[in-house]
Amino acid sequence: MNLFAPLTFLAVLVSSAAAAFIPLTAACIKGVTFEGTPKGVMKTINGVNTYVAKAHRPSDPRRALLFLTDIFGLPLVNSKLMADDFAANGFDTFIPDYFKFNMTAWLPNHGETQTFPVLLATIEGLKKEGFKEFAATGYCFGGLYTTRLSQQNLVKVGTMAHPSLLTIPDDFTTLLANSHVPIQINSAELDVAFPPATQAIVDGILADGKYEPGYNRTFFPGVAHGFAVRANLSDPVAKAAKEGAFFAAVEWLRAH
Ligand SMILES: *[C@@H]1O[C@H](CO)[C@@H](O)[C@H](O)[C@H]1NC(C)=O
Ligand SMILES: *[C@@H]1O[C@H](CO)[C@@H](O)[C@H](O)[C@H]1NC(C)=O
Ligand SMILES: *[C@@H]1O[C@H](CO)[C@@H](O)[C@H](O)[C@H]1NC(C)=O
Repeated sequence: MNLFAPLTFLAVLVSSAAAAFIPLTAACIKGVTFEGTPKGVMKTINGVNTYVAKAHRPSDPRRALLFLTDIFGLPLVNSKLMADDFAANGFDTFIPDYFKFNMTAWLPNHGETQTFPVLLATIEGLKKEGFKEFAATGYCFGGLYTTRLSQQNLVKVGTMAHPSLLTIPDDFTTLLANSHVPIQINSAELDVAFPPATQAIVDGILADGKYEPGYNRTFFPGVAHGFAVRANLSDPVAKAAKEGAFFAAVEWLRAH
């Protein structure tokens, strides 16, 4: 898919520009498109172009789940199909389009100062629609925003898989100091962006009851960065890990 080729260059640029952070690595370009037709609809919410997947049987009609995509955003169908999966599990799920996908403009235009206000606008818009509380599930680039929303207590519960662009350990010491949001990280053995050594650092800050609101980290051997949202579903190990991360996220969101 020719969407991916220019991103090799982009990923290298981003990782060298952000050396102090968990980078968006070249591994981030690996992607397999899931098969299926999204069932949701596009809607403008408070000015934000948003994919909406309504819960089949809402478990909590007051709560909205924000699905925070990887760098491929809405053009890669995987995220929409996964939002549909969350909807099938009882969550009203929203994917705010925090990119207008433009390769040339992407890098200077998708820092936190551009991206975070889009999320805040989506939350404000959904409040006007009657939602009272929010949850977040973030992937790769979106993991940063699960973390930000949690640090600022703007969500009730957060989950993320293979996050990138975080500052270690600062982002988690900040979470520990400021947040009352239970947080889950679905991690992989072969993730060069969030490797086992980094996973251990985060455990050192949050695990074993150190983070009172609640911390859960799952670990999937034999899979790499992107496994939770860009898995090759013909590969049984990759498929099991992708589904394992999904169901762990559903359990975590339901539990909180
Ligand atoms: C993408 O961004 C570049 C740089 O800002 C701009 O010149 C170009 O017109 C944009 N392309 C589209 C399709 O918006
Ligand atoms: C997906 O996995 C299958 C089974 O292992 C393999 O044959 C195929 O080449 C893989 N596809 C991609 C795009 O990696
Ligand atoms: C994290 O969640 C997974 C999936 O729900 C569960 O199997 C695991 O026991 C949890 N781990 C901890 C340390 O609570």
